[in-house]
Amino acid sequence: MIDDKKILFSGMQATGSLTLGNYLGALKNWVTLSDEYECFYSVVDLHSITVRQDPAELRKKARNLMTLYIAAGLDPVKNCIYYQSHVSGHAELAWILNCFTYMGELNRMTQFKDKSAKHADNINAGLFTYPVLMAADILLYQADVVPVGKDQLQHIEITRDIATRFNSIYGDVFTIPEPYLGKAGAKIMSLQDPTKKMSKSDENPNASIYLTDDRDTIIRKFKRAVTDSLGCIKYNEEQPGISNLIDIYRACTGMTVEEIEKEFDGKGYGDFKLAVGECVADMLTPVQTRFDELSKDKAYIDGIIKENAEKAGYYANKTLRKVQKKVGFPERVR
Ligand code: TRP
Repeated sequence: MIDDKKILFSGMQATGSLTLGNYLGALKNWVTLSDEYECFYSVVDLHSITVRQDPAELRKKARNLMTLYIAAGLDPVKNCIYYQSHVSGHAELAWILNCFTYMGELNRMTQFKDKSAKHADNINAGLFTYPVLMAADILLYQADVVPVGKDQLQHIEITRDIATRFNSIYGDVFTIPEPYLGKAGAKIMSLQDPTKKMSKSDENPNASIYLTDDRDTIIRKFKRAVTDSLGCIKYNEEQPGISNLIDIYRACTGMTVEEIEKEFDGKGYGDFKLAVGECVADMLTPVQTRFDELSKDKAYIDGIIKENAEKAGYYANKTLRKVQKKVGFPERVR
């Protein structure tokens, strides 16, 4: 607890270009959650180097993501938004937790299996211990809740296991975190293959709406979205493409499925796709405008980066010092 509020931690990698899926599935909800919780939102750059990155590109993308957090509506005074690499406690706690994590546990992680298949020429130890760093992120802030997508649930599970193990040896050191899965409908699928999640690393640019896409591009991509030949706008398993468009429309408008089905009853796919495209463009335009304004204000962003790194560092150190003492490291001499 900080000031009577439960603590929330989440993070995003700055690699790839953020998509509508990241926005509706994560960022937009983060903004809502920031009233209820004391929130830490990190740009997790330590995680990014588990696959090879171009240094200049990584730095630029991390800065853009930080700016986007604010442009999307996260108040940087109320929320602690910071770079993971600016708080050394993440790496320090990760090392300690590595010594409380079994090879067998890490071997079972499906993301590790997927990523090592994809980067067969660079299966490094960091990729293997990625979940331990993630556990350190979460436990360092004594987070109660962690909003994540379904694909990260296994990592939350291992975080809980590591924390429980540590607590059973040393007493109540860590809060055991709970995953927070957003409301149904927040999972946005590819526009070209609606059985696949919309991904920032998709090779087909028509499959994803990027947060930087302009209005015409957005509308064009929706026009090309894969649907079916049934010709009716109904939410069901046989029409994954249309159902995905309904999900997007409802996430943008706040309407229910029934209301949407009624609004488009008897209308063609062309009309519906245009309506979805327009409401997505309407939603993203103010974020893009704000992003452009903020990007020009270097001093303002720099100030936020500095202040929030200090704030995060303060809370991180509290946990880290406690952990270091528990495992038997000598006290610091002042
Ligand atoms: N692994 C997460 C992802 O790829 C990002 C992440 C890193 C994270 N550390 C975290 C998410 C801690 C939640 C909490 O999506």
